[in-house]
Amino acid sequence: MFKNKIVLITAGPTQEPLDPVRFISNHSTGKMGYALAEAFAAQGARVWLVSGPTQQKTAAPHIQIFRVTTADDMYAQVKQLAGEADVLVFAAAVADYKPKEISPVKVKKQAETITLELVKNIDIAKAIGQIKKPGQFTVGFALETDNEIANARAKLQTKNLDMIVLNSLQDAGAGFSHDTNKITIIQKEKETAFALKSKTAVAQDIVSFIAQKIHV
Ligand code: CTP
Repeated sequence: MFKNKIVLITAGPTQEPLDPVRFISNHSTGKMGYALAEAFAAQGARVWLVSGPTQQKTAAPHIQIFRVTTADDMYAQVKQLAGEADVLVFAAAVADYKPKEISPVKVKKQAETITLELVKNIDIAKAIGQIKKPGQFTVGFALETDNEIANARAKLQTKNLDMIVLNSLQDAGAGFSHDTNKITIIQKEKETAFALKSKTAVAQDIVSFIAQKIHV
């Protein structure tokens, strides 16, 4: 299906260092992004997987992994590759904030309380949305706890995405650290709900859905 197509996928968490031994991150395992990479590759795509630190492995041919650590690293790598991609899938759980300062030496324990100043990270999906080329198809993910569809739809617009895969935390078995996921695909004018499935099956559903949209 995706023969001669290049699919760029971001996956996993990012890690934002505080000092040489500590960082801020989140519970993303990268499972969904890696499952997507394999599902696209199985359909003939050449996949560029820009991955934050995860335990996931893939031996699938046609998947090239670009390992990154911070949101800034991920953005730099994605920006370098984005122009050549036909489909871009933003499945990474990018840390929204990073420490304002990184101490070059391990921070010693002293005061009873300390305050950490954080600054916003770049929104990779949004930044790429602003330089999106005609013909490129972009997909975001959203994890919402309330006003799910309205919030996801707002992200569709602000990030200039063609569709959003919405994971609801209200569904048992969906989201971080589960092997299953329950998604709703949000487009400008419609929503398509899917049943609870393994992340591998969810990835196949997403790939088939995108194939229909871009007529491959
Ligand atoms: N995303 C990104 N770069 C960021 C934050 C998010 O590329 N710095 C992408 C994610 O990969 C996902 C989409 O944007 O595809 C939505 O991420 P989400 O965390 O749900 O949205 P935020 O814009 O961070 O909004 P909020 O956390 O306020 O819900």
